[in-house]
Formats: sequence, C-alpha cells, structure tokens
Amino acid sequence: MLTGRSLIEPLNFTIEEMDGLFSLAERIEEDGAYLRDSCRGKLLATLFFEPSTRTRLSFEAAMLRLGGSCLGFAEPSSSSAAKGESLADTIKTVSCYADAIVMRNPKEGAALLASRVSPVPVINAGDGGHHHPTQTLTDLLTIRRLRGNRREAGGIGGLTVGFCGDLKFGRTVHSLAKALVRHEKIAMVFISPAELRAPEYITRQLEKEHVEFTETGNLEEVIGDLDVLYMTRVQRERFFNEEDYIRLKDIYVLDREKMKNAKQDLIVLHPLPRVNEIAPEVDADPRAAYFKQARYGMYVRMALLSSILGAAPGAVPDGKAAPGGFSPPGGKGAASC
Ligand code: NCD
Repeated sequence: MLTGRSLIEPLNFTIEEMDGLFSLAERIEEDGAYLRDSCRGKLLATLFFEPSTRTRLSFEAAMLRLGGSCLGFAEPSSSSAAKGESLADTIKTVSCYADAIVMRNPKEGAALLASRVSPVPVINAGDGGHHHPTQTLTDLLTIRRLRGNRREAGGIGGLTVGFCGDLKFGRTVHSLAKALVRHEKIAMVFISPAELRAPEYITRQLEKEHVEFTETGNLEEVIGDLDVLYMTRVQRERFFNEEDYIRLKDIYVLDREKMKNAKQDLIVLHPLPRVNEIAPEVDADPRAAYFKQARYGMYVRMALLSSILGAAPGAVPDGKAAPGGFSPPGGKGAASC
C-alpha cells in the first residue's frame, strides 16, 4: 500500500508496487474519466529549486486532472531560501499547508533529508546528479507500453537497453539502471566518453547482481544490438568548467543515418530536454518515443499521486476512495504546524 509513503529513490517501491502503478496509469490512459476528482480537496506543493518543464508541469497537470490543487514555486529566488532559510525549515512549513510535497533540489540527498523532517509524503523530483525516481516510473511505463511483455511483474524483462551520453551526472540514468536490475534478463550497454562514464556505485551493483553490461564510447558500433536506446543531454550545470562541457557536449548526435543501423522495433527514449543529441529529423521516425514518454509521465504521476494520497481504489484499507472536501494535512509531526 502506497498511502502516505515518500518516494526518494526507485527502490523505495517494490516491483509489484510499481506494477500496480503502471496498471493504474494504463487504466487512466484508457479512460480519461477514471479517478477524475479523486484528489478533490487535496493540495500538492511543488518546490523546484532547479529548472524544470516536464516534471513540474506533469505533476501539476496530474494533480489538477485528479481534481486537486497545487501551490509552490519554480524559482527559489522567490522563496525564503533566498533569505537563507534551511531546507528543513522550508519543508516543515510547507507541510503545514500541503498534503504532499514534490521537490527538485541541486543537492544530492536533499530529498531524503526533506522526507525525514516532513509529516507528509515527499516525492523526489531530482536531487542533484543522484536520483529521479518519477522519471524512472515514466521510463518503465513507456518501455512496458511500447516494448513490454505484460505476463511478468514489471513487464519488461529480456531487453537490451543502451544508455548514451552523460552517464556520470545524468540522474535519470542512475535511477533507471538501478530499477532495471530487478527485471529478468536485462542487458545494459553504457555508451559515453571516458569522462562521463556511469558511476562505479552503479556498475558495482550490476556486477554484484550478475547483470550483463558493457561499456563503450561508440554508439554506431552497438546501436544495432539495442531494443531501447536511452539518450541523455550532457549536464552542463554539473560541470566544473565550461571548456570540458564545450568539448563533450556534441559527442553523440543521433541522426537518420545512425538510425539506419538500428532494429526496426527499437524505441528511442530521452527524458528531455534535448539539446543537440537527437537531430530533429529523427522525430518523424516511428521509433522515436520521447514525446509519448512525456505523456506517460503525466499518467504515471496521476497514478502515484492518487495512490500516495489514498485516493486510488485499494489505496485505503476499506477500499473506498478518499472523500472530497478539505482536510488539513495531518499525521506524525503535524502538531508542530
Ligand atoms: C531530466 C532531469 O531533470 O534530470 N529532465 C526531466 O526531468 N525530464 C533530464 C535532464 O535535465 O537532462
């Protein structure tokens, strides 16, 4: 049961719990009226200390489509963080007003800290170069919908997944690789320049779990082996110097020519935003799935919010959806408000 739970990194939810979210998201996709109004009277706070388009707007769209409301900031300079307020104090304050908090922060570990001081669930929308678990839900749902095998839990075993670009700082890569480890017969191919290789804590984990993986610098050489190609942007904001960024930023550009050597049923994913790493000419290729992926992100966030707010069927013990009407956030620590 996900009611009242925080989501800080992908392994916080079991594979079965994720499976339940994907089924719920698929039901929402099929039936636009399903769960509409289930979060009426609930408030979601979106606290973005770093830029965002899809994550913040898809969370807000999800909450509004569920009949709930949103408050928050997209610009930390307009919050008391600019006056020197600690993150813990900001979270304790916001949790007096909202039923759940979605936060993106440039510091690794910020979401975990927030969840420790918050009496309401905290959803990590990206903590520095560390994790981005709701992008992982988005990615897994997209893979399951477009390449999946629904017979098994999670529905995505047996695929070869290539990650290309900035595997060092790309938090979406770290979260997705970690989550894929739990699926049967997944193979991973990491494609990056030496400077931007996947962190050792990820590759060590793969070795420990006996997951097949290879590392290469050459996209053309391996593109024909892949079922899923996960392209990423070079994360300029995490570089220590601009020269390194300029040297590495255009190292991989997926274009029509390279797509000629890919499988016919490949799917190309990208968490977006893209800069130059996928040429716009690829958008017309039926294998380009990154805008579909952005849409699945909203469905899976609807499933997540309705589940953690206790509004989805089965989310509350008596099987009833949460009633409408305003109820102030409660739970442990609420008395401090
Ligand atoms: C990603 C992120 O913020 O980590 N974007 C997203 O949430 N869809 C990827 C990126 O910024 O490169």
